[in-house]
Amino acid sequence: MPVSLKTEEEITHMRVAGRLAAEVLDHVAPHVRPGVTTGRLNDLCHDYMVGVQGTIPAPLNYAPPGYKPFPKSICTSVNHQVCHGIPGDRVLKPGDIVNIDVTVIKDAYHGDCSRMFFVGEPSIQARRLVEVTYECMWHGIAQVRPGTHLGDIGGAIQQYAERHGYSVVREFCGHGIGRKFHEEPQVLHYGRPGTGMVLEPGMTFTIEPMINAGKAPIRELADGWTIVTKDHSLSAQWEHTVLVSGSGYEVMTLSAGTQPPPAFVP
Ligand code: MF3
Ligand code: CO
Ligand code: CO
Repeated sequence: MPVSLKTEEEITHMRVAGRLAAEVLDHVAPHVRPGVTTGRLNDLCHDYMVGVQGTIPAPLNYAPPGYKPFPKSICTSVNHQVCHGIPGDRVLKPGDIVNIDVTVIKDAYHGDCSRMFFVGEPSIQARRLVEVTYECMWHGIAQVRPGTHLGDIGGAIQQYAERHGYSVVREFCGHGIGRKFHEEPQVLHYGRPGTGMVLEPGMTFTIEPMINAGKAPIRELADGWTIVTKDHSLSAQWEHTVLVSGSGYEVMTLSAGTQPPPAFVP
């Protein structure tokens, strides 16, 4: 299947879905505090999506080939968990860092974004990793315009992460998104500038780098979903859905609570 270029009408739907996904994160943010369980955060998000927004939580029962159905409505990945953490009885404690990843479906279109949250006061190392990972995502986004290559995105992210002594997770990547949760192209978070697919107006995809404080290798837990760093080092991730516009990019997962871009973004 080739990469789909979204029509103006589809882009309108994608903007709505993207905003709604981000608003779920706004809604849950004040609840990310010491003592809360990840299962409670899931329930708060689920009820808001289904009951208030009229959106469908895309992760719930999502079952790509080779996976069992994901049992919850969001992903919560704590500390050395890289991604796809399953919400449950885990109680968040001061100093934890947690990624909350929300994907909604509205009028058949997907919006997908994630943010990092500090539970109480983070260590200096954790704060630094989370900040640099946010900058990594934005170095990738800043490459997006017609005529640049996917490798420009991956290259910018990899270079910035490694310059800070961090490593880029290889096994998971950003992805085209639209009527499907995961569609072409694959958006690697590492690579060589000037290589790979050329970007065209109307493409919509996510940029969602997973950055480890230690080494890059990961492993999957026995639950069949949760990914952790092999060396147990901390890991962070941020995600936006972006559109390749006529002249550059448009971030589709924007809400009142979206963090502003770093100062280096023009
Ligand atoms: N939201 C994740 C992504 O950014 C995918 C989660 S799949 C799930 O691509 F099944 F774990 F929810
Ligand atoms: Co995604
Ligand atoms: Co996501």
